Amino acid sequence: MRDDFTGKEARRNPMPVNLHFDILARFYERLMPPAAADQFALRLALPCAGALLDAGGGTGRVSARLAPYAARVVVCDLSLPMLRQSRRHPGLAAVQARGHRLPFADGSFERVLVVDAVHHFQHPDRVLAELMRVLAPGGRLVIEEPDIGRWPVRLVALAERLALMDSHFLPPSRIAAILASLGGRPRLADEGRWRSWIIVDKPLPGGS
Ligand SMILES: C[S@@+](CC[C@H](N)C(=O)[O-])C[C@H]1O[C@@H](n2cnc3c(N)ncnc32)[C@H](O)[C@@H]1O
Repeated sequence: MRDDFTGKEARRNPMPVNLHFDILARFYERLMPPAAADQFALRLALPCAGALLDAGGGTGRVSARLAPYAARVVVCDLSLPMLRQSRRHPGLAAVQARGHRLPFADGSFERVLVVDAVHHFQHPDRVLAELMRVLAPGGRLVIEEPDIGRWPVRLVALAERLALMDSHFLPPSRIAAILASLGGRPRLADEGRWRSWIIVDKPLPGGS
């Protein structure tokens, strides 16, 4: 497992503690419903020939189901205990990093996925910029995020605040607007339930 903060940089800029998920890690997949791989594959336009990044991917709960549909699947997360659980799933590479400082070259991934994590990122706008940077031209980013406009999600937000989680919920339309300002072509898919999908295509140079 890799940590992008080594040597002097690690001492100057240590990984922050991510207490809630570090503690939850061992139980996380027992608490969460299994991922509906077909829905993710459809929205991500899988299979693809290149690599897929699952940012804030935790234990790999979702991307483990997508491993057969991409050449390589990388789970990236702040929490080492969450990433350690991803070892249970074959076919996943795990990288510890902060979402707003991804240790990947520009355009490294043909597909990028973020599930239920944007509101957990410390700097969501900077993370969105990083996701667009590492996404290859012609590639696709899919975000599944609880919609703070819906009352069940407001209750979750309140519970997270009471649990002292540092959550920053952005309305899906705001996430889409930020991604559009970064050159993406976002569209929203609302199932009329508590979650929203933001599907973003990154144009090829020249605009197609
Ligand atoms: C609710 S979990 C979702 C995990 C996974 N996407 C899933 O759906 O099973 C949110 C994840 O975001 C991660 N996270 C929180 N802040 C982060 C940050 N700044 N950079 C990277 N990951 C972060 C947490 O460690 C946690 O694994």
